[in-house]
Amino acid sequence: MNVVAFCGSARKDGNTKLLLETVLEPLEKNGVQTELVELAGSKLRGCTACFTCIKKKNGRCVIDDDMVNECVEKMANADAILLGSPTYFADVSTEMKALIDRCGMVGRANGDLYKRKIGAAVVAVRRAGSIHAFDTMNHFFQISQMIIVGSSYWNIGIGREKGEVASDEEGMKTMHQLGVNIGWLLDKLND
Ligand SMILES: Cc1cc2nc3c(=O)[nH]c(=O)nc-3n(C[C@H](O)[C@H](O)[C@H](O)COP(=O)(O)O)c2cc1C
Repeated sequence: MNVVAFCGSARKDGNTKLLLETVLEPLEKNGVQTELVELAGSKLRGCTACFTCIKKKNGRCVIDDDMVNECVEKMANADAILLGSPTYFADVSTEMKALIDRCGMVGRANGDLYKRKIGAAVVAVRRAGSIHAFDTMNHFFQISQMIIVGSSYWNIGIGREKGEVASDEEGMKTMHQLGVNIGWLLDKLND
């Protein structure tokens, strides 16, 4: 079993990464293979609406000079996919939106590549707009026919400067519980 987590922050080693690591921790302890991919610095562009993926149906995006095709493969090979984003103007980061649009379109063009995989989103926020960002990522899971796992609260961590989310006790507990719940479901699905 393996879980892949995509960190959509534009800065490396920030709050979103810390939240994702907290989700992955209980999974790793239970022997699940995990990988965390940071999108920071990757110069991801958005979908160009060329629909080549729909015409070719080769499991790839025609834009081949960035990490999207690698991400599609990672998603297609995973049992669970985590999307994490900071809140930027009450929504996800540009990097996360580009990942959603391009991996989402390639997935749909190829018979729903991520169908019935587990999905969960996490959001870092200073003050407001996190639920909108959370919804944006959940829309990706829903249209991809994925199974969304919840926690003891919406998966939000509060903090501004790098590392500040660690002081959000409830946020960190929510992340840990999310990891435990994903592990539980992975076990059930693989029984
Ligand atoms: C361009 C930009 C826009 C932001 N917009 C919001 C916002 O709408 N609401 C909010 O509470 N925080 C906002 N923030 C703050 C970040 O969400 C917050 O610092 C978060 O912890 C950053 O996560 P990171 O460390 O993973 O990058 C914004 C930050 C940036 C750089």
